[in-house]
Amino acid sequence: MVIRIAAVGDVHLDEDVVGRFRPALEELPGRADVLLLAGDLTRHGTEAEARCVAREFGGLGVPVIAVLGNHDHQCDQVPQVVGALEEAGITVLEGDGVVLDCAGGRLGVAGVKGFGGGFAGRCASDFGEPEMKAFVRTTTESADRLSAALRSLDCDMLVALTHYAPVPDTLAGEPLEIYPFLGCYQLGQAIDAAPTALALHGHAHHGSERGVTPGGVRVRNVAHPVIKQAYSIFYLGDHLDQAQVSSVGAGGTQQPWS
Ligand SMILES: [Fe+2]
Ligand SMILES: [Fe+2]
Repeated sequence: MVIRIAAVGDVHLDEDVVGRFRPALEELPGRADVLLLAGDLTRHGTEAEARCVAREFGGLGVPVIAVLGNHDHQCDQVPQVVGALEEAGITVLEGDGVVLDCAGGRLGVAGVKGFGGGFAGRCASDFGEPEMKAFVRTTTESADRLSAALRSLDCDMLVALTHYAPVPDTLAGEPLEIYPFLGCYQLGQAIDAAPTALALHGHAHHGSERGVTPGGVRVRNVAHPVIKQAYSIFYLGDHLDQAQVSSVGAGGTQQPWS
């Protein structure tokens, strides 16, 4: 039995862009069991832009599960943004999870926006000024919420959904100087502490598609500018013990406007 997961991030919708994904999205019910959105759904996080997201991704005929990104926080309208998405039937995760009954088994999705901080040997540390301690505390608290959510789900297949990257592999192509603002190793540790089959993230527009955590979990950067299609589809096979990402990027319609 196979669970089919469509995913995209960083669609950055506003009135100028809304509608461009919809033709490919209309094909989803025959292609995937669920659509995951990896944050940066809007340009500046306004309620009006969130209503564009709701129009684009609402009523698709498959469950849609999202996390927010940093852009979705820009205008300090997170409650309104979440409200607009949820009105359209989109589930927004932040430190929690959901289990879906799919034809191929029970799919658990745990999600959190995540935060920056950097990776092994090149990361921010909980030392010095209060501002730096607050920064690192935001990182660790976010990763702790992901860890708890992942371990709370009773399912056959477990997927971690974040905006920030859990590994540096999928940042390849970005300037090294900004890696600490693109993700953190603590998210990778959270993913490795649970029987995660697949980790999906966005945020790194100039990064690369494939990576792996230190514990061997496959990581995929599904930022739209990276995948260059409306969505990618991932196929997860039989049981957590043998979970395989057997095909990547097989779905979606090529968009000329990435
Ligand atoms: Fe983005
Ligand atoms: Fe982002």
